[in-house]
Amino acid sequence: MTSNNDFIPLCTPYIHGAEWDYVKDCLDSGWVSYVGSYVERFEKEFAAKIGMARAVATTSGTAALHLALLAAGVEPDDEVIVSALTFIAPVNAIRYVGAHPVLVDAEPQFWQMDVGLVESFLNGNCERRGTELFNKRSGRRVKAIVPVHILGHPVDMAPLLDLARLHGLAVIEDATESLGAAYRGRKIGSMGDLSCFSFNGNKLLTTGGGGMVVTSSQKKADWVRYLSTQAKDDPLEYVHENIGYNYRLTNVQAAIGCAQLEQCDAYVENKRQIATRYRHAFANRDGITAMPEAEWAESAFWLYTVLLDGDSRPVLRALERQNIQTRPLWQPIHLNTPYRGFEVLGGEVAEDLCRRCLSLPCSVNLTEAEQERVVSALLDAVS
Ligand SMILES: Cc1ncc(COP(=O)(O)O)c(C=O)c1O
Repeated sequence: MTSNNDFIPLCTPYIHGAEWDYVKDCLDSGWVSYVGSYVERFEKEFAAKIGMARAVATTSGTAALHLALLAAGVEPDDEVIVSALTFIAPVNAIRYVGAHPVLVDAEPQFWQMDVGLVESFLNGNCERRGTELFNKRSGRRVKAIVPVHILGHPVDMAPLLDLARLHGLAVIEDATESLGAAYRGRKIGSMGDLSCFSFNGNKLLTTGGGGMVVTSSQKKADWVRYLSTQAKDDPLEYVHENIGYNYRLTNVQAAIGCAQLEQCDAYVENKRQIATRYRHAFANRDGITAMPEAEWAESAFWLYTVLLDGDSRPVLRALERQNIQTRPLWQPIHLNTPYRGFEVLGGEVAEDLCRRCLSLPCSVNLTEAEQERVVSALLDAVS
């Protein structure tokens, strides 16, 4: 029985499958660290889930992005086109390799990277020299695009992939928030040269912390794996030709991942049901716009978010007083201190969405009673 004032969290993990058994298996067998059958199994089954040939498990989604950028050939002083309205991790990863982000505003309809702005930047502000593309203003080489599918909804990928092909750019999908979503029937994470996922505590699947790089390229997968294990060049001797990282997922974490993966489709179904109920509750309500879903998309509704007419912060505080946890969107990247002064295409839409959006409780086991409490508290707060 839930009381009328029990805490309703934003989005918590749901651990009710074979997690205990698989973890016990690791502990009993002693295979608790970076090598083990669950790591291999998690990679294999995850790759199959996305429909990509290879997957390499990593310590986090951020580590996955760092390695994917390196494997895509991004070098210091290159430019990488990336969403301005995102959690900061993909942009930080671009800086880890010494490259410069070109930040792209969100479009107002589905809140994703505005592909029209990418097109005018590439066609108007860049020039080809030989086989490579250069930003005419900065003189830097433009090497890759990182579309971030935020909140569970896809970026409009078809025109973006066309542009990448036309200009010879690598595409790295940041699919961390959109596992289980699809774009025109294609799974999110299956369209980039490399794609990255996260399994931190609030993601659709969790391993406690963890990430994955998927790719159809054997060469890129091998390079990611090599870099993730300190770039060791000999099976026996400790010799190194390159600087590597300690970015491997442990067998214990992978064991949790295998169990979570078995429940992935059910989680997505629950998320979509929660979204449907919210959509009905907010239909024709003044001051609240339900989370959009494009007709070309199947959203995973990872973090159910509404758009309010005004500032979402007073509403967040009103719900907090009702013991209901909600969350604002991220401050757009160009307004964060480390990224002031980097090139930004537009930015006003992201700023407006940041001011007005509010993410609502949407754990996969959110009950209908809890959801009704969220809806009525929100309607009260908005009116
Ligand atoms: C869009 C986005 N990219 C990257 C990450 C990084 O993932 P992790 O926390 O596993 O490093 C996250 C989530 O945290 C994210 O939301």
